[in-house]
Amino acid sequence: MTPLWTSAELRTATNGTLAADVAISGVSIDSRNVAPGDIFIALRDQRDGHEFVADALARGAVAAMVDHRPPGAADTTKLLRVADTLAGLTALGAAGRARAVARVVGVTGSVGKTTTKEMLRVTLGAFGVTHASAASHNNHWGVPLTLARLPREAAFAVVEMGMNNRGEIAPLSRLARPDVGIITSIGTAHIGMLGSQAAIAAEKGDIIAGITPGGTAILPADSAFLPELMTRARDAGLHVMTHGEAASADARLLSYQASPECGVAEVSLLGQSLTLHLGAAGRHVALNACAVLAVVKVLGLAPDVAGRALGDFTASAGRGAMRRIHVAGGEALLIDDSYNASVASVRAGLAVLAAQPATRRILAFGDMLELGAEGPAQHAALADDALRICDLVFCCGALSKHLFEALPTAQRGGHFPNSTSLAPALRDALKPGDAVLVKGSLGSRMGVIITALMAGEQVS
Ligand SMILES: Nc1ncnc2c1ncn2[C@@H]1O[C@H](COP(=O)(O)OP(=O)(O)OP(=O)(O)O)[C@@H](O)[C@H]1O
Ligand SMILES: [Mg+2]
Repeated sequence: MTPLWTSAELRTATNGTLAADVAISGVSIDSRNVAPGDIFIALRDQRDGHEFVADALARGAVAAMVDHRPPGAADTTKLLRVADTLAGLTALGAAGRARAVARVVGVTGSVGKTTTKEMLRVTLGAFGVTHASAASHNNHWGVPLTLARLPREAAFAVVEMGMNNRGEIAPLSRLARPDVGIITSIGTAHIGMLGSQAAIAAEKGDIIAGITPGGTAILPADSAFLPELMTRARDAGLHVMTHGEAASADARLLSYQASPECGVAEVSLLGQSLTLHLGAAGRHVALNACAVLAVVKVLGLAPDVAGRALGDFTASAGRGAMRRIHVAGGEALLIDDSYNASVASVRAGLAVLAAQPATRRILAFGDMLELGAEGPAQHAALADDALRICDLVFCCGALSKHLFEALPTAQRGGHFPNSTSLAPALRDALKPGDAVLVKGSLGSRMGVIITALMAGEQVS
């Protein structure tokens, strides 16, 4: 089989030196996850990756990209020496993109990037070899890493692009050069860093800067920023398709019927009616499916085949996966939505909770972070939904107090300093027949609660 990278290609792509003749089958930036045949890239983060080069080589890496001599690595012939490893990875990503035959789909937006990316992985996988970003690898190292891993024979590539600050999306998009670029939605996530929703819209719109000439921007029909995004895309000579619920949407969600663990959506794709049997619960999944179908249309693929493939997408751990857990005297339902939270995704999660045939619906909620001055108000704003849907609400963190205190006493399960202290109280409160949604920003560490509920053990 042709290797992902040969020594000659590595040297040319990075302008580096490498003595050994190697055949690379994968790219790794974490020595703990190195697979035999990988090249290990020694990046600097909290620790300097150069410290782990010897470990990576011992675990089967056949080369390591370095910008200085790493400690303890005996075989220097396997070192690809470059001026700077992050720049080297970026160059390798650019080379991966340049040689690719794949049609490249870029995905950005305030919420739903990874979900849409995973739905595209499943859907495009029905038509040909599909490569997609791992996890949420969507930043200045995640995007080049995704491209450096892109198999030369892949038919499709799906690249997630995210941002924390203004000015980050444009360079990522110029590197990935998507043939099709999706903006899933424009919300308020990261507003603390960007200052306003208009700035967020402008930043997401920067995906347009990298879309290939004659390519297509797939834009959110329900956003107030649609007109200016459309103008930007058209001024850049791109085609435009829209997705959402608005009557004008090219890929339009006409109706959604919720079931506990899945859902049925009626969609109109440029006038063609499709019924989708979705394998994951939530109207938000149906909305993401509209964006996926828009991509399918742009790529000239068969919508009915895509529609069937979408049924194979299931919610993943941290993003809505459902599990039955043991509680005293029986079983309860756990909805593990612990990976992330913004106002839009909490509402989406609560809608899934509402669709459960449970005796009590319970929310375990940790702070939504990176909202800046808007944090308290955005937490309090969730009270109406929580009041309507939940029988009990457990909260942890300073911001969640604004939600907790807006609820009547009968619905207050308890407020705790952190997820570790919330976990045992929640476990003790759960009764057979309950459904509990666990949700919060990654930094609120709500995963601790999932572990505790699944293990049935006390967390320390
Ligand atoms: N269209 C949508 N509208 C609202 N919520 C959504 C939508 N799509 C996914 N979600 C929910 O939002 C949360 C985050 O989803 P996801 O991880 O896909 O977003 P992301 O944009 O990749 O986030 P990140 O910025 O962390 O990479 C999950 O709880 C998910 O179920
Ligand atoms: Mg993501």
